[in-house]
Amino acid sequence: MARARTVFCCTECGSQHPRWLGRCTACGAWESLVEEPTGPEPGATRDLVASEPAVALALEEVDAAEAPRLGTGLPELDRVLGGGIVPGSVVLLGGEPGIGKSTLALQLAAHLQKQSGPVLYVCGEEGPAQIRLRADRLGGVPGDLRLLPTTSVEELASTWRDLGPRLVVVDSIQTVHTERVDSAPGSVAQVRESAALLAASARSTGAALLLVGHVTKEGTLAGPRVLEHMVDAVLYFESDSGSRLRIVRAVKNRFGAANEMGVFAMTEGGFKEVRNPSAIFLARRTEAVAGSAVAVTREGSRPILVEVQALVDQGQGGYPKRIAQGLDSQRLALLTAVLHRHAGAAITDQDVFANVVGGMRVSEPALDLPLAIAILSSLRDRPVPSDMVLFGELGLTGEVRPVPFGLERLQEAAKHGFRRAVVPRGNASARQFPQLALTPVETLSQALEAVFG
Ligand code: TYD
Ligand code: MG
Repeated sequence: MARARTVFCCTECGSQHPRWLGRCTACGAWESLVEEPTGPEPGATRDLVASEPAVALALEEVDAAEAPRLGTGLPELDRVLGGGIVPGSVVLLGGEPGIGKSTLALQLAAHLQKQSGPVLYVCGEEGPAQIRLRADRLGGVPGDLRLLPTTSVEELASTWRDLGPRLVVVDSIQTVHTERVDSAPGSVAQVRESAALLAASARSTGAALLLVGHVTKEGTLAGPRVLEHMVDAVLYFESDSGSRLRIVRAVKNRFGAANEMGVFAMTEGGFKEVRNPSAIFLARRTEAVAGSAVAVTREGSRPILVEVQALVDQGQGGYPKRIAQGLDSQRLALLTAVLHRHAGAAITDQDVFANVVGGMRVSEPALDLPLAIAILSSLRDRPVPSDMVLFGELGLTGEVRPVPFGLERLQEAAKHGFRRAVVPRGNASARQFPQLALTPVETLSQALEAVFG
């Protein structure tokens, strides 16, 4: 008898390897390979062209009218989704345990149940009693919302068929399993196969499918990062530990802008929207302190004011640290080198820590200039004026480069009462803001002059 074939799957990136390895050669994760059975033995070679009866459609026959999107009841979430949930689409909602995935899923389920008909909430993780308690806490969850306590994809499928829901929530995808795969729930093969089956059902029935998935501290979906390719939209929670603010960001969206974000606050009664995020990400103070600068970043389709903080401290010998939170640490290392070279900063043996206030992650080069200024402000113990904002990309030769959407950024700064802006020359628009004085700069040294005088 043929030996059951197995392969080694990486639980971090889902890549497959014929042998066990201590380190995944695809993503570099250590000890992440697990043995799993492969699919059925490949059959005898068939002539696929002769045997497949699929019908090709003429382009003009295809009905392109998009089904109306389902509003979620939370305009911030609709914005992230690109204007609501598309019927028949699959959305993956990822985040660390305890961040609020089930809460957001239940709020969405409650709204759709009220607005557009049956919603099926599959609770593989918690009992129905726990969901009931959460619903009581949230208030306003309709009593006819259907809870299905199961972990079996096949059981779920039969309820799905009977109920004909508009939305199916699976909380979480790591807990469900299908008979078609032998391995344990949560394993790469199970998660992948279960998600594929459910996604196919969503497409054929036109029901929207929300898959909830756990993410590890490192920010990857534990195990099923493979899912990202199979779903239409991937939303991740971002947050500072201890903060009530939650950011939901679309890292992928077939039906909207990727990188769009929505901001929420977790309250006693579930998520409330934060309509004016700029006001939240600024730790407004009466007195300016050293090591802080206000930046105008652009996340998704809107500008947001954020505070960038830096702390420069004497290193303890050995390698000086370059530690970034909410920012790319490579970029931080690069900026410290630019500061050393082009601003004469004695920073080579100093530890540098940098942080974006409020738990937001920013990967935009427009943060270069404010971050560089925050670092110098800490190093020199000289505060940046508290009514000043900055944005701009820094080049390796110390030049300050323009960034997209300069005008929108300036408008946002003016709206929030800032009086001075230090910006790349290319972004110093002809349009005047009566209350906001612009200082266009072309080099890092000009920016230093503008900030510290
Ligand atoms: P939960 O949605 O269960 O997180 P996840 O599904 O991502 O693991 O809840 C997260 C936390 O939110 C939990 O500690 C309780 C808290 N919470 C509130 O503060 N207010 C609320 O209204 C609810 C329902 C939960
Ligand atoms: Mg949960």
